[in-house]
Order: sequence, then C-alpha cells, then structure tokens
Amino acid sequence: MKPAPADPQSVADAAALLQRGQLCAFATETVYGLGADATNSDAVLKIYETKGRPRFNPLISHCADMEMAERFGEFSPLARSLADAFWPGPLTLVVPLKPGAGLSDLVTAGLDTVGLRVPAHPMARELIAALGRPVAAPSANPSGRLSPTIADHVRTAFSGAVPVLEGGPCQNGLESTIIAVTGDTVTQLRAGALAREDIEAFLGHPIALAAPNAAITAPGMLKSHYAPNAALRLDAEEPASGEAYLAFGPAPAHDGPFLNLSESGDLREAARNLFSHLARLDASGANSIAVAPIPDTGLGEAINDRLERAAAPRNR
Ligand code: TXA
Ligand code: MG
Repeated sequence: MKPAPADPQSVADAAALLQRGQLCAFATETVYGLGADATNSDAVLKIYETKGRPRFNPLISHCADMEMAERFGEFSPLARSLADAFWPGPLTLVVPLKPGAGLSDLVTAGLDTVGLRVPAHPMARELIAALGRPVAAPSANPSGRLSPTIADHVRTAFSGAVPVLEGGPCQNGLESTIIAVTGDTVTQLRAGALAREDIEAFLGHPIALAAPNAAITAPGMLKSHYAPNAALRLDAEEPASGEAYLAFGPAPAHDGPFLNLSESGDLREAARNLFSHLARLDASGANSIAVAPIPDTGLGEAINDRLERAAAPRNR
C-alpha cells in the first residue's frame, strides 16, 4: 500500500496537487467534491478509478466564474440568464460543449454537452482560480454510497487515501440541482439543493422533468445510489423496536438510535443534516433505519429523491 498522502494545508497546496495531476477533495456548499484538473485525462481517470464510477457517467466541471464557464460551454441567452440568476450556487447547467476548448473527453463521457457549475463556497472558487482551469468533481464518496458533507466523511470513505482540503461542514448538504438547457426547453435532470420552485419562479413557468431512469444521459440516475449499509424504511410514522429512527419535526420518544433532521420541520435544515444523520445512524449498526415522512415541496423534492435511492434494492 502507498502511504496516505498528507492533507493540503492551504488552497495553494491543494491547487499544486491538482496542477501535478493528482486528486484533491475539497468542500463546496453542496457536498465535498473529489477534484481533478478537468483538462488532464490522466487525472480525471483517477477520479473514476478511485470512486469505482462507471465511465459512462459524466462529471461536473466546476468553474471559478462565468468567464471560465464560457470558455468551455455554449451559453444561449436563456442559459446565461439562469447562470446570472443562480451562480455562484448549487445549480449545474448542462449546455452544449465548446469543442476543442481542452476539456478531457472523460469528463463529458464523450457527450456533446457539458455540466458546468460555479460553486458558492469561497474556498472552492479560490482553488479553481488558483488552478486557472475547471476542476472536474463528483461527490467525494465511493460510487453508490452516501455523499460526504464533512471532511471526515471523505477520510473515512477512502480510508485516508485521498487528500482533503478542509473547508468545514457543507452549508446545503445536498448535491446541486442539474438542469439541461436545450433551445427554449429547460429540463430538470436531478433535484438538488436549489429548489425547482425557485427556478420556476425565476423563469415564470414550470420546467420539464427528466423521466425517471431516462437512460444514463440523465444524471445520478443509477437507481441504487446513496446507499447506507442498513435497509431504509420510508414514510415511517414511528419506528419499530430495534430500528434506528430518522425523524422530521415533532417525534415520538424512541429507545434506539435516534436523530432528528429538523425538530422545527425546516427543510433547509433537514437537507443540511440528511447525509450526515444517515451516516451516523448507519454507524450505530442498526439493520433498519425508519425515516419519517418528508413533505415533497421545496427542498423536500431532492430529500425524497435521495431517500428513495438510498432505499432502492441494491445492485452493487
Ligand atoms: O453538488 C454537486 O453537484 C456535487 C459537487 C461536488 O459539486 N457534485 C456531484 O457530482 O454531485 P456527481 O458526479 O455525484 O453528480 C453529477 C451528475 C452525474 O450524475 C452526471 O450524470 C451528471 O451530473 N452530468 C454531468 N455532466 C452531464 C451531461 N453533460 N449531461 C447530463 N448529465 C451530466
Ligand atoms: Mg454523487
């Protein structure tokens, strides 16, 4: 075994790792990302290998600002207006790829579109700006497992084999919302930390939803995803004996492992706590985690999407 790499102590150290074609995990406002120089195919390949991720599942390229994003993606006026409204922030825009701009084919998995995002976390933007090129980054977890919202999740998931630029707990706790902009049509490919209602309010009309399981051009769509070791029982009004309980809002007393996503029933707080609470209940060793019903409005759409995937039959 190779010795565990030391964590970078500064943004400049982390940028130097990326510059040398190495991986470095870093915080964003959504979840921790497993970063590589998006223009270096050898580096990007390490992401797929380290995560055990299928090569046909493209990566998001993180940019420091709109100017960098425009070097790699074709922005229609509609796409630009969405970027102006929601960047920096938890929105990924899938737009036509600018051919020959230098992005590794492995990032786009050979598609003629590219997923771009300008993250809101200042350290993430500093890191990308220091590298001077987009950073390809999926969530920093082994493929199919819970997404990391603190640096220790990353260290545990990869047994310390991946250097992590410490950036505190993630503010949103859920991955970005992904939308594709094709002509005049806006399609949500993945619910996420930006509520669909907010996008629709900005556009003034409802947006299309990708059919569930619409091939793999649609993102994060592998059915069993975000899986803890324990089985999940959703919409549970109360836990059975022996189960761990993940509550939302006022909850009955429970003897076993118990955490509340948000005692006050706040979906923002629940989103922030979702993956870390699931990880903690999973670590309690319970065979089953009962999860309280979560309303399907606002961020509840993304929370329920992740819970349904975590509860789906495992195919790993
Ligand atoms: O919040 C996030 O989005 C985090 C942080 C690190 O930014 N990243 C993240 O990456 O969740 P990942 O790889 O776990 O999910 C990215 C999704 C994938 O499911 C992929 O299918 C989709 O984005 N995607 C990327 N490029 C695409 C494209 N050109 N067309 C359709 N989907 C794309
Ligand atoms: Mg992921």
